Amino acid sequence: MSELALLGGRAAKSKRFPVWPQYDERERRALQEVLESRVWWRTPGTKTLKFEQEYAAYHQAKHGIAVTNGTAAIEVVMAALEIGWGDEVIVPDFTFVATASAVLFAGAMPVMVDIRPDTYCIDPDLVEAAITPRTRAIIAVHLGGHPADLDRLTAIAAKHNLALVEDSAHAHASEWCGRRIGTFGKAGTFSFQASKLMTAGEGGMIITNDDEVERRARSAHDCGRLPGEWFYAHFLYGSNYRLSEWQGAVLSAQLSRLDEQTALRGKNACLLDKLLGEIPGITPQALDPRCTRNGHYAYIFHYDKSAFAGVPTKRFIEALVAEGIPNQASYPPVHELAVFQSGEYRKRLGQEQAKQEHAFLKQDYPNTARGAWETVWIPQYALLGDEADMHEIAAAIKKIQQNAKDLL
Ligand SMILES: Cc1ncc(COP(=O)(O)O)c(C=O)c1O
Repeated sequence: MSELALLGGRAAKSKRFPVWPQYDERERRALQEVLESRVWWRTPGTKTLKFEQEYAAYHQAKHGIAVTNGTAAIEVVMAALEIGWGDEVIVPDFTFVATASAVLFAGAMPVMVDIRPDTYCIDPDLVEAAITPRTRAIIAVHLGGHPADLDRLTAIAAKHNLALVEDSAHAHASEWCGRRIGTFGKAGTFSFQASKLMTAGEGGMIITNDDEVERRARSAHDCGRLPGEWFYAHFLYGSNYRLSEWQGAVLSAQLSRLDEQTALRGKNACLLDKLLGEIPGITPQALDPRCTRNGHYAYIFHYDKSAFAGVPTKRFIEALVAEGIPNQASYPPVHELAVFQSGEYRKRLGQEQAKQEHAFLKQDYPNTARGAWETVWIPQYALLGDEADMHEIAAAIKKIQQNAKDLL
């Protein structure tokens, strides 16, 4: 019989990883306070307001606007930037659909470009090549917590008068050259969905240093109201994207743990870089020296099947999960999603743009394909384990390598 757990052998992992999400008395007390205050609604409340201020300060930003989720955060930023019909927004092809769908929601065209092969973040050279007279903004994604090249992207945005937006759904607490991500461009957006580095089940945040972006975003997230004006006066187009007091209270408690957890994830990721870097066929996501802190939404590595007897990525992941190592699916290329390939996306665009050919949807995105189909993502909570856990991850991969032929 094979030694591999997938084939009936004993699992390499001997003890459980920490559970996620984490909570203690801080969350319990916060929820109790909201309950007993009977103020559960953001508008008259104090908890979500307090969280906005704390989160903005944590990210060295002037303003924070809490919203219902990370997708909504991008949608509100698109509204605040007045992006709409006829406009183009450059996005990476390797990301969750929300980065692109929020652009479509605004009525604009997301233009996908490929990523860098080492960090899996948007390639600045390809961003520059994709700029047309219709381009209004660039959305960079800090993939897995690793910041995109913010030196190049801020320079390109300034040169072409474009808005840079940082989709930081994976990158709470990450830093570029010693500065927290999120305010290098016009705005940064975050998600607090269940798998994220801090969570209230759902939730989102916009941070910005730009007073006008803040004014418009705050209005767009609250039915077009403006602060200080009559409750039933609506000045701009807006919707209801307000975060509840329950979530604001829980997220303040979650934020109080973020530094400690980020340090632990960073330490364990560093150990994994060493241990996994020694295994033939395994290449951890590169760490740009300008990334001075990586929030580590996931531990991502490239898997070269030729070093594993040709076992396909999907089969390798099945074997790894059976050994007791958790996995989080990588993203498929955005341009390959049915919404784009079927032409359905055209229904969101203005008449003229809807009729145009969007040749980039038929293009090859080789680095995204490599990221989509050849990387393995170990979820962030595994990085909250101890040193022995990291050694067991490496041991599980080596064990699969030694017995790879059994999987064919
Ligand atoms: C890169 C990226 N952007 C945006 C989002 C959207 O966040 P939410 O799920 O909170 O709407 C996600 C969520 O997974 C994401 O991974």
